Amino acid sequence: MEEVLRVEDLQVHFPVTKGVLFKRQVGSVKAVDGVSFSVKRGETLGVVGESGCGKSTTGLALMNMLNATSGRILFEGEDIRGFNRAQVGRFRRRVQMVYQDPYGSLNPRMKVKSIIGEPLEVHGLAKDKAAYDRRISELLRMVGLLPDMADRYAHEFSGGQRQRIGIARALALEPSVIVCDEPVSALDVSIQAQVINIFKDLQARLGLTYVFISHDLAVVRHISDRIVVMYLGRVIEIASREELYRNPKHPYTQALLSAVPEADVDVDVEHERTRIALKGEIPSPLNIPSGCRFHTRCSMAMEKCRSAEPAMVQAKNGHAVACHLHP
Ligand SMILES: Nc1ncnc2c1ncn2[C@@H]1O[C@H](COP(=O)(O)OP(=O)(O)OP(=O)(O)O)[C@@H](O)[C@H]1O
Ligand SMILES: [Mg+2]
Repeated sequence: MEEVLRVEDLQVHFPVTKGVLFKRQVGSVKAVDGVSFSVKRGETLGVVGESGCGKSTTGLALMNMLNATSGRILFEGEDIRGFNRAQVGRFRRRVQMVYQDPYGSLNPRMKVKSIIGEPLEVHGLAKDKAAYDRRISELLRMVGLLPDMADRYAHEFSGGQRQRIGIARALALEPSVIVCDEPVSALDVSIQAQVINIFKDLQARLGLTYVFISHDLAVVRHISDRIVVMYLGRVIEIASREELYRNPKHPYTQALLSAVPEADVDVDVEHERTRIALKGEIPSPLNIPSGCRFHTRCSMAMEKCRSAEPAMVQAKNGHAVACHLHP
């Protein structure tokens, strides 16, 4: 399958400064600290990990919406960091984002029509009023809303409906890739499934590629073809969905999976499951532990884990893991 996006050793470090007049840098938040993965055309790549592990920062970097400290992000083979204005414009049409908060990300005093149509106007794609209205109706229908909702205001809608509006807006420019940052996390569980089904349906119809960010392994499981597990700014495991849930190799992935509600786990895997508790809090990205950055919370940690950072090692079927237990 063709590779649409490729991230190579991405680092995003935020400087921490002290002093009011003479700011000096006293440290850096290593939000993303050496992340590599690729995304194939038409697939959904899930990105999971606890709060603060750098998922959103990775997503924003993919969107070319913040400056990476180092590394490369290739879109269809070209490094987006070197794009000129025209190339950025084209890139913006091809790669869109859906955000977590359907309340905060949509202006409640704007009509649905203007919210969805804004990208069309910005990119000069609204030929005339009739064509514009037709396109808005079409976009509303694509996400399961009714065309006559176009003249209502965002604040009149429920969370699930607002997220559909957000998706319709992201679709307006006919992107090929959508980066979804926790798109269902703010919704009730019953509504989550509906919105995930919309994502799936749109993917089947339009051949979309998704990068689907979520802290919730149960959600990611429902939509992903492959899954990237992040910990403190790094990728610690990548595998196909089936592989990851059947045969998680990293102790961190195992711990995350053991916390997923029973109903979301296969019955045949269930008997092998033992709850693995994560020790303590996630360390600060201002002060990342030496060696394997997970060693402070790992029940399997060995002497080596304190000093040597494990490299990503390829196993069978595209399964890769960064752990000294799997040399
Ligand atoms: N602009 C910024 N300046 C300084 N630190 C930042 C900035 N943006 C993010 N961070 C820090 O970088 C780390 C990673 O943040 P990020 O938002 O990417 O995590 P996340 O995995 O998306 O978490 P969540 O699940 O809570 O959304 C956090 O410690 C966060 O506080
Ligand atoms: Mg986030």
